[in-house]
Amino acid sequence: MPVTMPFATKAFALLLAVLLPFLPGVSLGADAIIKLKRDGQEWRLSSAHLLQRNDATEISVPADVAYRRDMRFRALPLRTLLLENGFVAQGTLNFLALDGYAAPIDAAQVLNEAGAQAWLAVEDPAQPWPTLSPEGATAGPFYLVWQQQPAGGVPQEHWPYQIAVIEQTLAPEQRYPMILPSLTLPKHNPAWQGFAVFKENCIACHKINGGGDGVLGPDLNVPHNPTEYFTEPFLKKLIRNPAQVRSWPGAKMPGFDAEAISDEELEALIAYLKAMRTQR
Ligand code: HEC
Repeated sequence: MPVTMPFATKAFALLLAVLLPFLPGVSLGADAIIKLKRDGQEWRLSSAHLLQRNDATEISVPADVAYRRDMRFRALPLRTLLLENGFVAQGTLNFLALDGYAAPIDAAQVLNEAGAQAWLAVEDPAQPWPTLSPEGATAGPFYLVWQQQPAGGVPQEHWPYQIAVIEQTLAPEQRYPMILPSLTLPKHNPAWQGFAVFKENCIACHKINGGGDGVLGPDLNVPHNPTEYFTEPFLKKLIRNPAQVRSWPGAKMPGFDAEAISDEELEALIAYLKAMRTQR
């Protein structure tokens, strides 16, 4: 027997449906879109579509990087999704986030079966994740998380959240040769190791000589290089924990402890930055 709503209830429901999207803090759970890009082609996938896939599953992530605690997410194996769309385990995958964060990650690291497993966590608009800060947004709509991590873990910069685009590109130095130290430097020069440290930890937010896709932090060589205007002890302190040098509510740079960047890597990173002073 069909259930009929009294007219007043119907009218109220209609009014609510019309007003709901305009009420502050109320979302009707709009579907989010992630773009996959390669070879000049683009695929747009919706969170609803991804959540309905057969391989979408509930995973647990102990000590999650974005939330800094144990988390559970609905997620799908990113490897499968990308291979289906013609991505290859060569070059770089660029993860572009809504806030301007742009993490280049070795495609092989994501697409090879061996090693840590990459999962694309997908936020269900009907059941949003917790916010990252009290007034802030969540890590959604899409977040890269890892399982079966190696000892020492997958670097924190390889956990991009609020992902909008995943694109297959060349390695950063092939797209932006201006970020390379002078090719006349011998291979054993620490600046080369420092360059690798920079690519893994810093380039997601900082350009060098205008090269790179990140736009959250300042260019680290132009117009001046921090090794020119910071003393070395304070620069090291800032990299380890920016709030130890200066602190304000809007600060966005994360710190890098000795587990993220060893003392030797930090020396090498400084050597790279210094070497870039003569490479503008
Ligand atoms: C998530 C983004 C992010 C990452 C990753 C990041 N930074 Fe930053 N960095 C910033 C932002 C944003 C600022 C501006 C100050 C702030 O908001 O904290 C900044 C400021 C700085 C400054 C001070 C520049 C100045 O002139 O005041 C230096 C030096 C610096 N970063 C170096 C690095 C190095 C080296 C790395 C890698 C080990 C790195 N940053 C990684 C976002 C980032």
